[in-house]
Amino acid sequence: MNALLLLLACDTGFADPSRAFGPPVPDGPRHATTIHAPTTLGVVDTPLTDANGTPIGVACATCHGPDPESSWAAREGAPFHTGVKLAHGPIVCDSCHAADRTALHLADGTLVPLADTIELCAQCHGPQYRDYTHGSHGGMNGYWDTRRGPRTKNHCADCHAPHAPAYAAVLPVFPPHDRRPLEAE
Ligand code: HEC
Ligand code: HEC
Ligand code: HEC
Ligand code: HEC
Repeated sequence: MNALLLLLACDTGFADPSRAFGPPVPDGPRHATTIHAPTTLGVVDTPLTDANGTPIGVACATCHGPDPESSWAAREGAPFHTGVKLAHGPIVCDSCHAADRTALHLADGTLVPLADTIELCAQCHGPQYRDYTHGSHGGMNGYWDTRRGPRTKNHCADCHAPHAPAYAAVLPVFPPHDRRPLEAE
């Protein structure tokens, strides 16, 4: 610290002027931090895409309603989502899905829209959520100093599939083959 003060006091400038410190950023309003939302969150995926290449999904409310008894899905009764395979510790479907299938629920019964899935994850994964809010889990884009510009963060579901959240293991490969003979070093 003392050495730094001494350096600043000398004010000899930088040999390369382009490396000099910029002017201090005035303390002003902060830009927004937004969380990216996966386009497929809260819809049933289809193989279709729209003109912009965005996947087209079917909203849960197309078949499910707030009253599980009278919704179309309950009357239909036939199995529909046959591809769901759960690999998420010891928890079961109803740990997350509410009786109203258009929503999720917290442990105390509070309904959470599918778009706010992070609230649900945070309830059971406190340490990771804390790290996420601090910026040391989950990554971000944009500006570290939000006085200078906005920031975008990833959604938990960008990286972890809610039904099978384990991050795929990375397969180590051999290093690139160097075709230069060793003698050339
Ligand atoms: C095309 C109609 C349709 C759409 C769209 C749909 N579902 Fe379903 N869903 C059904 C049917 C039919 C059943 C089986 C009947 C039942 O259990 O109510 C069902 C059952 C379920 C179940 C219970 C599964 C089980 O094994 O107990 C969950 C959970 C569920 N749906 C969630 C969702 C969510 C979340 C969405 C939106 C992302 C969604 N569904 C969209 C038709 C649909
Ligand atoms: C950890 C919480 C959690 C558990 C446990 C869970 N789900 Fe889900 N489920 C979600 C979330 C979050 C979504 C929305 C994901 C999306 O749309 O990408 C979802 C989406 C769905 C959908 C919508 C269609 C789809 O395939 O994306 C169905 C159906 C579904 N879940 C059924 C089930 C069934 C059946 C079980 C139990 C075998 C189950 N879920 C267990 C959190 C959970
Ligand atoms: C109801 C509690 C609950 C909810 C809600 C929940 N989880 Fe989990 N999660 C668990 C449990 C229990 C385990 C298993 C822990 C273990 O095996 O040590 C787990 C494991 C995980 C793992 C590690 C998987 C592995 O095999 O390494 C990840 C990643 C994860 N959850 C992410 C999420 C995300 C993302 C959400 C939100 C969509 C979520 N969880 C919602 C309880 C929950
Ligand atoms: C940019 C991708 C990314 C995002 C976004 C992300 N994670 Fe992770 N997460 C990872 C990686 C990578 C690991 C480490 C996997 C490993 O070590 O095998 C991990 C590990 C985990 C684990 C397992 C921890 C352990 O020690 O085994 C949990 C639980 C978890 N994340 C929850 C969350 C929750 C909750 C969110 C949202 C608040 C989230 N993650 C957002 C990439 C991400």
